[in-house]
Parts: sequence; structure tokens; C-alpha cells
Amino acid sequence: MKTITINPVTRIEGHAKITIKLDESGAVAKANMHVTQFRGFEKFCQGRPYTEMPGLTARTCGICPVSHLISSSKAADMLLAVEIPRTGANLRRIINLGQIVQSHALNFFHLSSPDLLLGFDSDPKKRNVFGVMEAFPDMAKAGIGIRSFGQRVIERVAGGKRIHPIGIVPGGVRKPLDPKVRAEILEELPARLKAARETLNWFKKNMGKFQEEARVFGNYPTLFMGLVGENGEIEHYDGKLRVIDHTGKILADKISPANYRDYIGEAVEEESYLKSPYYKPMGYPGGVYRVGPLARLNIADRMGTPIAEEELAEFRQIERGPILSSFYYHYARLIEIIYGLEKIEALLKDEEILNPHIRAKAEPNRFEGVGMSEAPRGTLMHHYKIDKNGLIEWVNLIIASGNNNLAMNHGVEQAAKHFVDGKNITDGALNRVEAVIRAFDPCLSCSTHALGKMPMRIELLDADGALLDIKERV
Ligand code: MG
Ligand code: NI
Repeated sequence: MKTITINPVTRIEGHAKITIKLDESGAVAKANMHVTQFRGFEKFCQGRPYTEMPGLTARTCGICPVSHLISSSKAADMLLAVEIPRTGANLRRIINLGQIVQSHALNFFHLSSPDLLLGFDSDPKKRNVFGVMEAFPDMAKAGIGIRSFGQRVIERVAGGKRIHPIGIVPGGVRKPLDPKVRAEILEELPARLKAARETLNWFKKNMGKFQEEARVFGNYPTLFMGLVGENGEIEHYDGKLRVIDHTGKILADKISPANYRDYIGEAVEEESYLKSPYYKPMGYPGGVYRVGPLARLNIADRMGTPIAEEELAEFRQIERGPILSSFYYHYARLIEIIYGLEKIEALLKDEEILNPHIRAKAEPNRFEGVGMSEAPRGTLMHHYKIDKNGLIEWVNLIIASGNNNLAMNHGVEQAAKHFVDGKNITDGALNRVEAVIRAFDPCLSCSTHALGKMPMRIELLDADGALLDIKERV
């Protein structure tokens, strides 16, 4: 068998390797994504005070610190067994939405728009954010503006450095909202919302050009999972788990995060250090599910903000039932940016947001706590057990991107089978295989608990395992 390995996959956060194996006739027989670095983070936490967990886990990833702070603090809330004051919860909610807005803008504008604006087959030397700035300066400006707005929301509301905000703590948040910060954010927001709507309109007008990609970029029946609010609305900070199948049928609903183990199993595959979570009632490897923007839009009954609500209705015209092609993660991401901006505005306009009662204080009242939130990339779960001194005895994390591991692997194989031909390996074909992964927007840094960024490559192997080609980009 021939094998192609894409290593490093460029324009994703982290490091992974794609291996494409060809059969005797030169057709793609198998394709896999492997993640090749690992730090035993869950072990490393043992013996640390639970109060350190938010800061510690936030430092595992330079890309998703806010998401870890949220899920970790929520796990600690459960240890304390306190109710978070409403304003504290809403400030956390705003910070989480700031993270979703900035992270989605990073994916769409910096990582994915080069393919969408310049073309999957365009000159690889220019197929990057600099090429976009040159050819589509307005789009680039919109992207930079939305991203830095999201970062400023985090920085100003949570305090501390925007990379590692310190303002979220067990029991609530550290400081009340400054009315000046509120006014500043509300003043800037409409311009960002306008730019986000223009980008979404551009995408909708142009997505017809990518029908071939939409057909094979991880387009297959899977389950979808995420948190929803009490009335079935999209919910990123709180809520309960819902799982639907590819026809839209609800398989599990109103699952309290604390009971996740009845529904989610974690398999470890030999070739990857990335764990593969699966839906337990269906077993492994049958219980493949997807999380993240596409899953959230598929499982939610409604968005709950006016523009995003209309956009969801239009989005659902693509297919009867859930949208199955992972290409539409991009579309869903843009709708979530709009939702995030609308929701931040609504939360800030509530007078209660200036209430100084923002934190509940207590000692641990339980020995076990689970915290779940929707990170930009999907459901992020922290589960801790502590001893009577509040020291961590055991940790399990289920990382947002890790939930998509099985689905990403299927997606890579589907695209490789469609685009890669062993006799003529083009840059455009390999770029499309990578682009499937970019559509999912995994944070591999976080998934492997490895610090910082990692590179990736594609290897092509023949039927006998001999290396035919390597694409290695940093
Ligand atoms: Mg784990
Ligand atoms: Ni991360």
C-alpha cells in the first residue's frame, strides 16, 4: 500500500499528521489523522489544590484558556455546592461569548478564508492571511476587527491578560463590571455586528462554488451533541446535554453534566494520543458524534437572538433534518459570531449586569465535581475528585476538539478518497484534505494537553508501505 502523510497540517491550532495509504491500483485505501504529542496532564494535576485548577488548566492551552477557566470553575462550583450569583454567571457568559467570537473569527478569517476567497487550488505561497489582505482588504479588516473585539471583551470584562484572564474563579467572577467598560463595548458592538453580517452574506452568496467540497468534506451521518438551555435554545455557558441522530431524532436530552459517564465513553486508539470519545449507548466505534458550531446549530430548537434566529431558519434550508456536511461548520461559525455579538449586547443592556454581588464563597462541600461548557470547538468537560483537604485525587478532561476525533478521521478519509489520486498528487488535493480538518477547527494543543503549537505533515505511502511523497508545512 502507498501512503501519503500530511504533516504538519497547516492553519490549524496544534500539530497533527495525516497518513494516506494507497492500494495496489493507486486509489486511496485508508486515511488517518494522528496526533503525535502527549503530556500526562491529568496525572500532573494530582495533589494540587482544587483552587489552582482553573489557572492550571487555562495554561495547558494558549488558544483556549478562557474555555478551560469556565469549565474548570464550574467543576469547582460543584465542589463548593454554591449557587453562582446571577450577575457573576452572566459576566462569565459574556466572557465565554467573547472567546467564541474571537476564536471563530480566527478560524474563519485567518485560517479558512484563504481557501474560500482565493480558492483551494490557488498559489500556496499566497493562500494565507497575507494573500487575503492583499486581494480582499475589506474582508481582512472585518476579520481583524471582530477578532480583536472578542479579545477586548475578554480582557476588559475578565481582567488580566487576554491570553490568560484571571477574572473567573470558583463561585463566580473576581470583580464587578466597570460601567465604563460596559459603555465602551456597547458602543463598538454595532460596527462588529455589521461586519459579521456582511461576511455571512458573502459566504451565503458564494457557498454554491464549493458544492464538490460540501459533498465530501466529512459529509456523512453521525450523531450531534451539545448543551442546550431549558427551552431548547442554544446555550454555551450552562445547560444540559442533548444528543440527536442524523435524522434529527433526540436520543438523549436534559442530561445533567454530572451524569456524562452514562453517555460518553473514551477510547484510546493505538496510532494517536488523542482520545476518541463515543456515544456509549451505541458503543465504539459506532457511536460517532460531532460537537462544535455545526452540532450546536443542529441540536438547538432556537437561537434566542433576533438576527441569529432568522439565520438559523435559513441555514436549515440546506437539508431536511440536521446539516450533515462538515463544510458547513464555516456557515455555522459565522452564525455563532452573530449570535455571540447579539447576546453580549443583550446581557450588557440588562441593568443587573452592574450588580456588585458576583461571587459566592464557600469551602468544598462535595468531593466530586463536573463542569461543562461549550467552548468554540464544542463541549468541554472537566471532572475532578478531591480529598478532604481539597487536593486533587483524580482528573478527567474531555476536550472539545477530542469529541470530534472519530468524525474528523472519517472526514479526512472521505475527502482523500475523493480528491487524492496516487498517480497525480496535486497541492490542491492535499490542501482539501487539510481543509476538512480546518473546517472542524480542532485545537490539538488542547486535545493532547501539549503546550503551545505543533506542526503537521501529510505522508503518502504505497501499497507496500514505501513513502511516495511528503508535504510538510509549518
Ligand atoms: Mg480525559
Ligand atoms: Ni486549546
